[in-house]
Amino acid sequence: MNRLIIIGAGGHGRVVADIASLRGYTDIVFLDADASKACCGPWPVVGTDDMAGSMDGDLFVAIGRAQHRSALMQRFSGRRFPTLIHPAATVAADVEIGDGTVVMAGAVINPGASIGQGVIINTSSSVDHDCAVHDYTHIAVGAHLCGSVTVGEGTWVGAGAIVSNNLSICAGCTLGAGTVVVRSIAQPGTYIGVPARKIK
Ligand SMILES: CC(C)(COP(=O)(O)OP(=O)(O)OC[C@H]1O[C@@H](n2cnc3c(N)ncnc32)[C@H](O)[C@@H]1OP(=O)(O)O)[C@@H](O)C(=O)NCCC(=O)NCCS
Repeated sequence: MNRLIIIGAGGHGRVVADIASLRGYTDIVFLDADASKACCGPWPVVGTDDMAGSMDGDLFVAIGRAQHRSALMQRFSGRRFPTLIHPAATVAADVEIGDGTVVMAGAVINPGASIGQGVIINTSSSVDHDCAVHDYTHIAVGAHLCGSVTVGEGTWVGAGAIVSNNLSICAGCTLGAGTVVVRSIAQPGTYIGVPARKIK
């Protein structure tokens, strides 16, 4: 059987399913907390999240919120969570990427980088040489990490944000869309603007 069960029947899930189908999965089904959903694009929604434990197949959690992604991956630990890389992404040969991570079209990950589990490397973003992106982080559409940047667990680097080289962003941060980070961030919170400043 070549089945992928995707938890989270939203727009993000649809992109994940598209990549999975390009990567050879022929039987793709969705589960969602909302039992009223019947389909997600061309793929069926066959039940609620709880059913994942009783169904055969690989699992993928396609939920944007890091805490939910992490909780579901931990709940079903022991199952196989594939790493899904779009054929039009560019990933250097020595890059390590964890389970349940998706790398979308146009993304570039350069040599020496490491990417944790349950991470989203979104469309046309880049992770440059020797970066470390920890578990459940999301590098959003068009965001760029320059060389040797570390991003802690569960952080959201918003669309088009830029993190300058050799900096560290701690766990549990949100960087708003278009934020430019020029100093390391050691306190969890929400940061916006150029240069980045904390608002929450
Ligand atoms: C930073 C962010 C999380 C803040 O959301 P929020 O907590 O709901 O905050 P608000 O929308 O109430 O905004 C608070 C203030 O910050 C400003 N602000 C919000 N986001 C901003 C941004 N990215 N850049 C500059 N200013 C921003 C708002 O204009 C508002 O200013 P005001 O108080 O003067 O009116 C959100 O705006 C954001 O940028 N999210 C990222 C979206 C994204 O990247 N999506 C990618 C999907 S792949």
